[in-house]
Amino acid sequence: MNIHLPRADVAEQTLAIIDEFKGLEGPLLPILHALQDEFGYVPQESMPVIARELNLSRAEVYGVVTFYHDFREHPAGRHVLKLCRAEACQSMGGDRLADRAKALLGIDFHETTPDGEVTLEPVYCLGLCSCSPSAMLDGEVHGRLDDAALEALVEEVRR
Ligand code: FES
Repeated sequence: MNIHLPRADVAEQTLAIIDEFKGLEGPLLPILHALQDEFGYVPQESMPVIARELNLSRAEVYGVVTFYHDFREHPAGRHVLKLCRAEACQSMGGDRLADRAKALLGIDFHETTPDGEVTLEPVYCLGLCSCSPSAMLDGEVHGRLDDAALEALVEEVRR
């Protein structure tokens, strides 16, 4: 779920989350996860607040957000399709499936379809390696994907 709030409210919520985790050793990742849980993504407006409160540069905060594939900088679409890009899935045709999904949706990884319906994300192992290649659609895992199964998933979210 994405939550959109006025800038001042985002800053206020961000401060509340920072206060909750500031005492931890290495508080940045827990703060970013909590923000993403709260808003569905890490709002741009949160980054300077985090930098100020943790005494980091904005570039350092931004660097961590962009380094980890889990964090989104923009609100996600109504549906999130995650395709596994890790080794077992790659060896079972994951690359080809990823190309197919991109073509079907007309977007690349980390993008959302223009109608706001579907966000496509890479994920690095869903723990379903024995059923490679696998994917997760809105939190539900799908194994042994072939072209037809992938097309059915895409059709499901485009309906
Ligand atoms: S490598 Fe894809 S589920 Fe583990």
